[in-house]
Amino acid sequence: MGGWSRAGRSTPVALHCGRAQQMGALALVTATFFLTRLIDRSFPPSAASSLAFSSRVHSASDARHLDPFAGGGLAWPDRAYGSELSFKIFVYEEGEIDGLRELMRGRDGTISPDSCIRGQWGTQVKIHRLLLQSKFRTMKEEEADLFFVPTYVKCVRMNGGLNDKEINQTFVKVLSQMPYFRLSGGRDHIFVFPSGAGAHLFRSWAVFLNRSIILTPEGDRTDKRDTSAFNTWKDIIIPGNVDDGMTVFHGSTVVQPIPLSKRKYLANFLGRAQGKVGRLRLVELAKQYPDKLESPELKLTGPNKLGRTEYFQHLRNAKFCLAPRGESSWTLRFFESYFVECVPVILSDQVELPFQNIIDYSRISIKWPSTRIGAELLDYLQSIPDEAIEAMIAHGRKVRCLWVYAPETEPCSATLATLWELQRKVRRFHQSAETFWLHNGSIINRDLIPFQNWRTPVPLP
Ligand SMILES: *[C@@H]1O[C@H](CO)[C@@H](O)[C@H](O)[C@H]1NC(C)=O
Ligand SMILES: *[C@@H]1O[C@H](CO)[C@@H](O)[C@H](O)[C@H]1NC(C)=O
Ligand SMILES: *[C@@H]1O[C@H](CO)[C@@H](O)[C@H](O)[C@H]1NC(C)=O
Repeated sequence: MGGWSRAGRSTPVALHCGRAQQMGALALVTATFFLTRLIDRSFPPSAASSLAFSSRVHSASDARHLDPFAGGGLAWPDRAYGSELSFKIFVYEEGEIDGLRELMRGRDGTISPDSCIRGQWGTQVKIHRLLLQSKFRTMKEEEADLFFVPTYVKCVRMNGGLNDKEINQTFVKVLSQMPYFRLSGGRDHIFVFPSGAGAHLFRSWAVFLNRSIILTPEGDRTDKRDTSAFNTWKDIIIPGNVDDGMTVFHGSTVVQPIPLSKRKYLANFLGRAQGKVGRLRLVELAKQYPDKLESPELKLTGPNKLGRTEYFQHLRNAKFCLAPRGESSWTLRFFESYFVECVPVILSDQVELPFQNIIDYSRISIKWPSTRIGAELLDYLQSIPDEAIEAMIAHGRKVRCLWVYAPETEPCSATLATLWELQRKVRRFHQSAETFWLHNGSIINRDLIPFQNWRTPVPLP
């Protein structure tokens, strides 16, 4: 995957660096150098390697790879920061943990995962299935860098398979069956929460999952106590699940884009107002400027329900697809717009976008203040020359493969991009307030019981 950062746009930070900072930086480099030499000398090679391994997790063949002092100085591991993906992920099995099956299929086991894989929240199943086939998967917990806990609670809850109380209790039961969760305080455990509610689907997430890695499209959803379930540095934003019928690259998609000059509208908004200020304003605006802005009233149920094909046929008929905030800040429309090749205009101030490590969003979208939705916005959009729009569309065409949950063997996919983000989370060592260790690498708990002998249910959090 090449970088998509705009050429010629370099960070000016270094240039503004004053003399004082330069001296400071030099002093730091020098100090680090002497410090590493010092560490180097005080440990003979054999001791140095025992510093580097934790007997519990890593085999001897890994020790070379894992020894940060191997080259003499303190070397940053290529692994987790390097130029290729290299880590091991353990995926919990449905039958292995008491309660996991309920979180995937409901209390009676009747919710079909195949039905949960469709729709905008399909990521809860898709990511799990992709990891099951991943070459990074390991069957051995003791060698895993990361642990994936499959749950389909969004789907299970929608279909009445579990209520909120049951979800909460079952989650806690599941976590208490996992000694490795206890070992790291959950820091190397991964959960997918595919909807706008984010991790709030698990009521007590803040107590139990607040150190874990959460994959979610939603960066801005707070609960009633104003606690946000998304943490910029710990969690990973993933794209919503765009309809497979629109993302198939080999065959033809359900609806094809049309040339810019053939599009009837300047902009459109295809969604329900849901009583949201920004959306209501758009609906108003569409009434004022019906030939510029299309905003049909969408029927999501009943005989006039807009079918999938019709929906995308509307979406492709404008140069710009407006993506205002709904119940929460992310909207699937943003991702969908790339497959009909309209330029998305984000009207959702709090939005968090996926894969910012490789995507420059100013090249493929516009973000406009949601407080300024009005004729001014339409005037601005109208002032943009077609060549500029074409350039954004062309760039978006290259980037959109990152919204597709394709197998990791494809050269570009949401799957690969997520794996890269996950690799950044790999740590050589994990600790928690309830994890202790001895001179010889033995990991013990507060009662001095070695990790190998921890019995479930382990205490939580
Ligand atoms: C969730 O379940 C745990 C364990 O049963 C319980 O202690 C906690 O109070 C529950 N949280 C909520 C919000 O009900
Ligand atoms: C995480 O949960 C623990 C246990 O409830 C709490 O002590 C801690 O403050 C929480 N941390 C964050 C960052 O919310
Ligand atoms: C590490 O040391 C402790 C305390 O001396 C001992 O009980 C334990 O068996 C040792 N562990 C290993 C792996 O040698």
